[in-house]
Amino acid sequence: AAASPLDLVIFGGVGDLSVRKLLPALYMAHLHNNLPASTRIHALGRQPWDRAAFVEFIQEKVPGFIEAKAYNMASWQGFLERLDYVALDATQAPDYAALGAALQPGSDRVYYLATAPSLFVGICANLAGAGLIDANSRVVLEKPLGHDLASARQINDDVGQYFQEQQIFRIDHYLGKETVQNLMVLRFGNTIFEPLWRSPYIKSVQITVAESVGVGSRAGFYDGTGAMRDMVQNHLLQLLCIVAMEPPVSLDPDAVRDEKLKVLRSLRPMTMADVAKDTVRGQYTAGAANGGAALGYLQEANVPPHSSTETFVALKAHINNWRWANVPIFLRTGKRMAARQSEIVIEFADLPFTIFQDSPRQSVNRLMIRLQPEEHIQLQMMAKEPGSGMRLRPVSLNLDLETAFSERRAEAYERLLIDVIKGRLTHFMRRDELEAAWSWVEPIINGWQQLNEKPKSYTAGSWGPAASSALMAREGSSWVEES
Ligand code: BG6
Repeated sequence: AAASPLDLVIFGGVGDLSVRKLLPALYMAHLHNNLPASTRIHALGRQPWDRAAFVEFIQEKVPGFIEAKAYNMASWQGFLERLDYVALDATQAPDYAALGAALQPGSDRVYYLATAPSLFVGICANLAGAGLIDANSRVVLEKPLGHDLASARQINDDVGQYFQEQQIFRIDHYLGKETVQNLMVLRFGNTIFEPLWRSPYIKSVQITVAESVGVGSRAGFYDGTGAMRDMVQNHLLQLLCIVAMEPPVSLDPDAVRDEKLKVLRSLRPMTMADVAKDTVRGQYTAGAANGGAALGYLQEANVPPHSSTETFVALKAHINNWRWANVPIFLRTGKRMAARQSEIVIEFADLPFTIFQDSPRQSVNRLMIRLQPEEHIQLQMMAKEPGSGMRLRPVSLNLDLETAFSERRAEAYERLLIDVIKGRLTHFMRRDELEAAWSWVEPIINGWQQLNEKPKSYTAGSWGPAASSALMAREGSSWVEES
């Protein structure tokens, strides 16, 4: 049978995410012929625009977020032809008649909810009320997916009244990044690492997602959220899952997600004492970043003057299972750090004994997986220094994935949107995963509230508060940082 036409409906269609990420990603998919021919994209917004006014807005805003070399007039025009605008107040049931009228008869529908989560339940109810949901419909949920466990459950319950779990795509764009997907291949497409991928051969794991940008214009959202909810609960824990999971039996969505869930459920819950000892909250103060002066967090627009929201988190986690027993897992993320750098560092165990008594160097074996800005894998090992003695020096095997492959690398959103269109759930979070992540994070946030301490300050453009290095030093480790 001929495939049904496809309607992609974006709630929040003229919002920030849509303009910066979704529409550019869809343009790229269009350019590379990855959108089914019948795909129509419906942007929804409250502005009382006609199509011409909408196209003018898009024309002005979107191309700036498309790589210059990919932008060409003919394709862009073709892309605009797929677009349509529906003026709609998501909370008003009668407005959905216009949406229904805009959809293609008999189409498969993808509803992308790029709105505040408080609107999700109303949107689903109104879609259902207008008869716009059927068994082939899909819904994409953008973060933040909850503020705590209870609100995450509520979102899941609400949306679950209208969509079956296999129709729900909870997006975490880190799962769409090329190097994150490559981690699965590194681990399960090679035989050489997996036998060593465990205690006691691994001494520690570090996961850093450092950003050089500040809070920018997002304080209204960010100040009520903080780095723990914005980054750790989702992106860092998802990275941890892929690093730590057991080999899934296949790439089927549930096979992969079952293994990730097990990791989340094996995270050792933090007690108050752990929170006090093994976590660091930071907030940036004025400094320098990206080659210029940078404001402190408290001076940024729309940040309350006494805010104690954290813009940095470092913590030590443990996974209670055979593979990871006694292996500290360090997570760290922050805004206004010294560099934009996301990296996973696997630090292998120390030598049990050294015969190189004359060498001042300790052995260092590390596998460093750089996710961004470059996609790069480095294996640090020891080699003999040229000369008559037996002195060791660390050297690296370097794999630059961007030169190893000449193919185009799609942005995370493009890859994930194609997955949604094709109905592939593997790189999306399942309900129980989301809730397990919140179950682990919530006691930490509550612990902080009880401790009632101000976040530790760090200068914009630094690697975070001193307490973050101290946390590592106590375990005989240190953060791997580019100098
Ligand atoms: C988002 C956070 O989920 O991820 C932002 O809300 C953050 O605060 C962003 O800047 C980082 O994504 P990326 O892809 O630039 O590393």
